[in-house]
Amino acid sequence: AEPWPRYCSADVAKHTTPEQGIWVSYKDGVYDITKFVANHPGGTDKIMLAAGKAIDPFWRIYQQHTGRGNALELLESMRIGDLSDPPQADDRSSCPFSTDPERHPGLIFHNNKPCNAELPAELMLDAWLTPNPVWFIRHHHPVPIMDHDQYRLVVDGVGTKSVTLSLEDLKSRFLKREVVATLQCGGNRRSELDQIEKTSGIPWGFGAMSTAKWGGVYLREVLQHCAGLSHENVEAFEVKHIIFKGLDSMEASIPVQKALSPYGDVLLAYEMNGESLPKEHGAPVRIIVPGVVGVRNVKWVGKITASQEEAQGPWQRGIAYKGFSPNVKELTGIDIEKIPSMQDLPVQSAIVFPKAGSTVELDDIEVKGFAWSGGGRGIVRVDLSLDDGKTWITADLQDGKDQAYNRAWAWTFWEASVPVPDSLKGKDITILCRAVDSAYSTQPERPEPLWNLRGLNCNCWHRVSIRHQD
Ligand code: HEM
Repeated sequence: AEPWPRYCSADVAKHTTPEQGIWVSYKDGVYDITKFVANHPGGTDKIMLAAGKAIDPFWRIYQQHTGRGNALELLESMRIGDLSDPPQADDRSSCPFSTDPERHPGLIFHNNKPCNAELPAELMLDAWLTPNPVWFIRHHHPVPIMDHDQYRLVVDGVGTKSVTLSLEDLKSRFLKREVVATLQCGGNRRSELDQIEKTSGIPWGFGAMSTAKWGGVYLREVLQHCAGLSHENVEAFEVKHIIFKGLDSMEASIPVQKALSPYGDVLLAYEMNGESLPKEHGAPVRIIVPGVVGVRNVKWVGKITASQEEAQGPWQRGIAYKGFSPNVKELTGIDIEKIPSMQDLPVQSAIVFPKAGSTVELDDIEVKGFAWSGGGRGIVRVDLSLDDGKTWITADLQDGKDQAYNRAWAWTFWEASVPVPDSLKGKDITILCRAVDSAYSTQPERPEPLWNLRGLNCNCWHRVSIRHQD
């Protein structure tokens, strides 16, 4: 192959605008990222910080780029040359992740800096409340280390004076509430969409999802106390969103209706499954927004603001958690801010056992899994099929089936004994499942019409191929 043209870092530095072309270098490569800037999942502002520069120091902070995702591949596709004076590895820069907590080796790690790890199928159905050490982890930054005595939560915003609360204030001034809720990452099951065409993001299986009993105080009671805000007077305040800022610099918001609803159950949580909240999951205080995409459940929350505007930043206003139609491959010219950010999640289910690729010998296959829906919609039915949906068997709903109407925040486990028809004995079999929620919404059949640039909201029928041995 032809050698790449050679450039030095001073050449790269001249390319910082769309007109000149936007160049960066990484190790010994030079890249033209002009067309990619608008498509960057981490936001245009962030990637533009590196325009005309080496991205190496940026990617030392955001190491998800060099993990199992496709950032390196994407970058390579934009290569235009070799860099004659690559940066030397900087041994003096201390790793911002060195104070992250130790992690359970049973998790399935996609990245460690920041940590992104899923709950393995083998442990998923052992307990309806997922044990804290194997809870899925979806971080965007290093875990902030926080002295609980020094912790302060600031509540401010439209028509409100600023109020500062300590952890002790939260515990002593408000009633303790408990809510059992499942959290799911918006990218759960992304790997199935990646099989159609690679999307940008962590290639999650179905384990970016776990359940806990959260203990804490209701956000609506804190907002009422600090800001005099309630669902009855909110219109007079013209507040539309409640913004959460994490001490890790995460920023996200939820609509005020969800925050203030007496049936919304949004918590400031300081306990998880009866223990004080682990560092990993947001200690001392995190937000739990039941029924809503994981990213709004801000960990290590330091500030809550009542606002007329949504939160800023890539995770709310940028493309990180926005859906597009399958034919959108290029975002240049699309007004991203007009596309609603994800909040409630759609109905979901998966077959956890048998595992894909396993061999079963009995004439009845024992199938087990979970189902869940966003917005508190409970699961009314789970159906299974061995013939691609021509005939169905209905599963027995187990733990989680008796949750309150429209406050069914936790998953429902199910199981079924599925007889193998003679025609399939000794053959390869694909088992599939789909759940129906309390709105009688159900899962779409195929992944193709769901494909989207960021690989979000994958909730098609879940298929597992196994072999039957006669
Ligand atoms: C996320 C690619 C530069 C900051 C991502 C993701 C991809 C990507 C594919 C999605 C990762 C995932 O969700 O797993 C690239 C490419 C770059 C680049 C090809 C080439 C120049 C940068 C720079 C910064 C940055 C220079 C920082 C200044 C981020 C952040 C996220 C992100 C903050 C979001 C991470 C998250 O949500 O956890 N990028 N990126 N990126 N990127 Fe970049």
